[in-house]
Amino acid sequence: MKVFITRVIPQAGLRLLEEAGLTIEQWTKKRNLTPAELVDHCRDADALLSAGSSKIDAGFLAAVPHLKVIALHAVGYDNVDITAATAHGIPIGNTPGVLTDATADTAFLLMLATSRKAFYLHKKILRGDWNFFEPTANLGLSLEGKTLGIFGMGSIGQAMARRSKAAYNMPILYHNRKPCTTAEKELGARYVSFETLLRESDVLSVHAPLTADTQDKFNAAAFAQMKPNAIFVNTARGGLHNEPDLISALLNHQIWGAGLDVTNPEPMHPDNVLLQMPNVCVLPHIGSATVETRDAMAILAARNIIAGLKGERLPAVVNP
Ligand code: DGY
Repeated sequence: MKVFITRVIPQAGLRLLEEAGLTIEQWTKKRNLTPAELVDHCRDADALLSAGSSKIDAGFLAAVPHLKVIALHAVGYDNVDITAATAHGIPIGNTPGVLTDATADTAFLLMLATSRKAFYLHKKILRGDWNFFEPTANLGLSLEGKTLGIFGMGSIGQAMARRSKAAYNMPILYHNRKPCTTAEKELGARYVSFETLLRESDVLSVHAPLTADTQDKFNAAAFAQMKPNAIFVNTARGGLHNEPDLISALLNHQIWGAGLDVTNPEPMHPDNVLLQMPNVCVLPHIGSATVETRDAMAILAARNIIAGLKGERLPAVVNP
């Protein structure tokens, strides 16, 4: 049986697939497959291992209904039409759990780096602009005791809250589809309305999936309610914030700074004005990018493929 893989993935996952006797075809070009290329490569495949943001929509699924399983090398599945996959009887696997800590680390990194203007000041040295010590220059904001707002209190939101509480004794507010008793008991987190989260957070960190309900959730109206000293952090999906509105909010001093691991579109264009702003730190969607985490994701994705091809329940399945 054959599995088509849309990107080069870590050996740890490939090894498992080989040991299971599968034929592997990997897309090795450094560009996204076009939708037509994806269909072509899946025509004689039994399984698809998708890394990256290829659209797995109703049209694609109708063209390749013979696929026995699709495994994502990601926890997020906003690029997949789960209803259509279920209608075709195709199980969709993802990689929850294994990337929780790495992604929370990235959110914490962006919070801290943004609060101290780290990326901008690094560029200042590169420009030859570090000339003398000025007590009133290069100032950031302290995080100690500031209020952290978490939008989406899943496992990654909780891991970010845990880090922030331990490091800076930050009181935690959160907004979620439903209350999270673990965060409330363990971290003293307080469930609040979206409006309260906007109004009271000094750092607002986004950890929710991209859905029709969360698309553009952080828009002009939302930024207008935030504190002028607030830092906005997004390590979830770029679609949750409206980029022109974020730029205006920063330029108009409605919020203080932003740390982004995800943008809309991705990749971000190098001329983007956000990259020139002192209080903005942008990373190229590296939330889960550690050697250990990417190995674990590849292994879980491979296990999903192997289980699906055997007709077994996937270790991490998304379909209801
Ligand atoms: C994920 O796992 O969803 C990461 O964002 C990679 O896409």
